[in-house]
Amino acid sequence: MQYKYAPEQPDYSDLSSGRVFYSLPGHPAFPVRLASEIFQRCVAHRKTSYQVLTPAVLYDPCCGAAYHLSVLAYLHGEHIREIIASDIDEKAVALAKRNLGLLSTEGLEERSAEISGMLEQYGKDSHRDALKSAFALKEKISARNHPVEARAFQASAVDARTMSLNIKPRSVDIVFTDVPYGQHSRWRDVDGRELKDPMHSMLDALLGILSPASIVAITSDKQQKAAHEAYQRLEQFQVGKRRVVILKPISVIASGAKQSHLQFTGS
Ligand SMILES: C[S@@+](CC[C@H](N)C(=O)[O-])C[C@H]1O[C@@H](n2cnc3c(N)ncnc32)[C@H](O)[C@@H]1O
Repeated sequence: MQYKYAPEQPDYSDLSSGRVFYSLPGHPAFPVRLASEIFQRCVAHRKTSYQVLTPAVLYDPCCGAAYHLSVLAYLHGEHIREIIASDIDEKAVALAKRNLGLLSTEGLEERSAEISGMLEQYGKDSHRDALKSAFALKEKISARNHPVEARAFQASAVDARTMSLNIKPRSVDIVFTDVPYGQHSRWRDVDGRELKDPMHSMLDALLGILSPASIVAITSDKQQKAAHEAYQRLEQFQVGKRRVVILKPISVIASGAKQSHLQFTGS
């Protein structure tokens, strides 16, 4: 895959996981450059498919610590109006809320005070660097021309009902999700059991909340297939072990309609 929109690897150290942003122990962070590339491809698809350039509502139904979402708010805040995050795991949601809290000046001030306390106690260079990064992020917030709203809730990515209780119908413009794969996370149901065909069920569940001008980007391993009869594939590429698929719905479900891909006009 050739990077079209993030051709260079700039210094992303202010955005490193575990520096100012909190990390999920045992879970490697999503690569910042790749997140930037995928998001910009979604923005470009919104423009070419729907001629839409307004700031998007961005949603991740398998958000983990919401690290890649938080990073995107700093890199591409001009294209984002609101960030919504959900995960089946209570602890992940708690951490996602803390990371999304770092998208505001108040959140960063609290985090700076926390890091200052650690610096006083332990005198580590890593805390000194983190404090500098928190300052740099505050400057980026001051330069923004609009705030990025952000929230997180607990839900399974295949649970259309809980999704629709937390997200307005037809309101999400971009879904960018890094679904479970590999040894660090696996798909599971609320009762801990394995889910049958989770990708298809997730794409089904998303239909009720996608806006008529929406784009869905999914990263997974090669074994999982991000395909659904109610979506058209716009592109697919491989980056190392990851497969990235970008889709658009063929037509979105009318508000309040029963959740079923059979209600699509095209297939
Ligand atoms: C690869 S991680 C996402 C990491 C995230 N991109 C980040 O930057 O922090 C996948 C997440 O999917 C979650 N997950 C597993 N089964 C799920 C389900 N049925 N619904 C929603 N989330 C689920 C896991 O708890 C895990 O947090």
